[in-house]
Amino acid sequence: QNLMSEEEFPRFLAQLRIPLPSSFRITGSRSHAKELKDLMVSKYFPGIENFVDDAGEVVQVPKPIPWYPDDLAWSYSASRTALKKSPQLATYHKFLVAETEVGNISRQEVVSMIPVLLLDVKPEHSVLDMCAAPGSKTAQIIEAIHANDEPIPSGLVVANDAEQARAYMLVRQTKRLQSPCLVVTNHEAQFLPFISLAGAPAVQAGPDAPATSSRVLRFDRILGDVPCSGDGTMRKNKLIWNSWKVGNGNGLHKLQLQILIRGIEMLKVGGQMVYSTCSFNPIENEAVVAAALRHCGGTCAIELVDASKRLPQLERRNGICTWKVMSGNGTWYSSWDDVPAERRAKLAPTMFAQEDNVSLGLDKCIRLYPHLQDTGGFFVAVIRKTGPFGKMD
Ligand SMILES: C[S@@+](CC[C@H](N)C(=O)[O-])C[C@H]1O[C@@H](n2cnc3c(N)ncnc32)[C@H](O)[C@@H]1O
Repeated sequence: QNLMSEEEFPRFLAQLRIPLPSSFRITGSRSHAKELKDLMVSKYFPGIENFVDDAGEVVQVPKPIPWYPDDLAWSYSASRTALKKSPQLATYHKFLVAETEVGNISRQEVVSMIPVLLLDVKPEHSVLDMCAAPGSKTAQIIEAIHANDEPIPSGLVVANDAEQARAYMLVRQTKRLQSPCLVVTNHEAQFLPFISLAGAPAVQAGPDAPATSSRVLRFDRILGDVPCSGDGTMRKNKLIWNSWKVGNGNGLHKLQLQILIRGIEMLKVGGQMVYSTCSFNPIENEAVVAAALRHCGGTCAIELVDASKRLPQLERRNGICTWKVMSGNGTWYSSWDDVPAERRAKLAPTMFAQEDNVSLGLDKCIRLYPHLQDTGGFFVAVIRKTGPFGKMD
């Protein structure tokens, strides 16, 4: 797909074969998080610093993630044997486990921290997390809602997942945060109903808007961290190497697009939505974003936000504007017109790159590759709703 140059590709592939370092965020109020970070560095790091493992390698102390605010996210890679052999490392590990149990530390893959940082959640925002389980990003959203340490912030978080067992998991994961601002729902995100605000006055949003439009809850921020083929998680999830097939991404494209469009419908005018996947596949990424932009009236109602100045130390690549589509039998197609009738059932016109991709600003999407900063792979698009779209607006 020409995602990178031929010279760069072997580095990308080699990095995919190296296990992913562990990572975590220090959570809680700002002052408390800083205290915990200082304790970790002063009490536990000195004992780890000079430990040499069985292979003769010096164990590295955990490192702060350079682009994460206030040095509150860290990554480290100590082998299980090193943990067993070094009492200091084992003590540090116990500290991490204990602090995770009480909710002061949240284990989370580094790239998975990015969507919520770019969502820019404020304590007064109403936020919808459409595909939320197991809840690592919901936890980040809740923390942002409580950033001012008010006992009850005015914001609201609705965290949803379609799978019932995973929705329960979401409840368990978020319970430790004890937030009064959280509602968990169990629904298919593409069919999420509007939430009525009983008792709210019926004011018209505009001369042609229905009188009921203001009774419906619109969200300031929406996260659509959609189900995806997961090829960006290959370093952590080795099963993907065997289970990956081209049909996985193709099969999810339609659902991903429906979820993104439903999210845009539920967003306030002026609000922002982040669409993200842990996949490199343009069919699940740029193709979905481009099709949603077209569906919602091009750049009149929604636009891609240029986030290139945000998180300046994060190394990233721009979204792409051209790609091809492969069918299940391994044949490449450049346009829908080239697809023979017998192959059309499993593909869709929205999967294909179109000429307006550059004017839609697809290059503003963000691609994260493992070899850039020793992470997993991710895709993030920040979308702003600039004008009304659909009957309810
Ligand atoms: C990539 S995971 C989300 C990870 C989560 N945001 C986090 O950071 O912990 C995708 C989730 O979407 C859920 N899902 C699958 N189909 C869905 C649908 N139609 N509507 C809502 N959620 C769905 C899956 O159960 C899964 O939990």
